[in-house]
Amino acid sequence: MLHRSQQILFNHSVGEGYYLIGFSCAKMAEHAKPGQFLMLRMNDQAWEGKLSRPFSISNVKDDIIEIVFETVGKSTHNLAGAEKGKEVNVIGPLGNGFRVEKDADIHVLVAGGIGIAPFPYLATQILQECPESKVIALLGVRSMSRLLLTKFFEECDIELKVSSDDGSVGHHGLVTELLSEELNVLDEKEAAVYACGPDPMLKAVAAITVGMDTPCQVSMEEIMACGVGACLGCARKVREGDGWTYKMVCKDGPVFDAKDVIFDED
Ligand code: FES
Repeated sequence: MLHRSQQILFNHSVGEGYYLIGFSCAKMAEHAKPGQFLMLRMNDQAWEGKLSRPFSISNVKDDIIEIVFETVGKSTHNLAGAEKGKEVNVIGPLGNGFRVEKDADIHVLVAGGIGIAPFPYLATQILQECPESKVIALLGVRSMSRLLLTKFFEECDIELKVSSDDGSVGHHGLVTELLSEELNVLDEKEAAVYACGPDPMLKAVAAITVGMDTPCQVSMEEIMACGVGACLGCARKVREGDGWTYKMVCKDGPVFDAKDVIFDED
């Protein structure tokens, strides 16, 4: 884990309310794994409060770390307006990251909105480690205007299927309906599922894959104050043996096997 002050190299929109920011740090880039995250803050009044916020590592290109984020409050709105050269305080890489399922022939990435943020790096890693395999990305958005990162998947020749809540693009409905369709036509032993998004989506993904011979990992979204396991603020119930225990999303996750997570109202 590194703690650095980094200058923003680039910062631009990648969809309505979504931004891609990049900075150069060879050491972080060397150690970063797909699915890991950074704690980041700006060092001035532009940031609300004193705490850093978690941001998924979206991609790593040579020594450049990329982050894709959604503007959801004052801090992220100001981060969206931060110009090249602006200093940001960064701690990371943090968390465990995704495990590439090397035995799978088809890797299905399932994302809800900004949950797609870690998938460019994961897809790149899968294609590097398993060049004979196929990657399919499923993205659920509220409407066409909220699409993001589609260009990345086009450029990598990765099949991207989209669903939208309002039917303005792709399948009119839930991204988990697309997942069910995919898994219905695949040999479950050949596929692996990786999901990132809001809890109800992850819960549905887990329900679809439970009982199947398809490994499924879910990256949990959680509010994080420290990001390193110290504040106990990101505890989630996870199955252990015949019972359950609390695990920290920041330190033990954010990626868990779907079958281990106890979702609300389970
Ligand atoms: Fe503090 Fe996870 S954010 S323990």
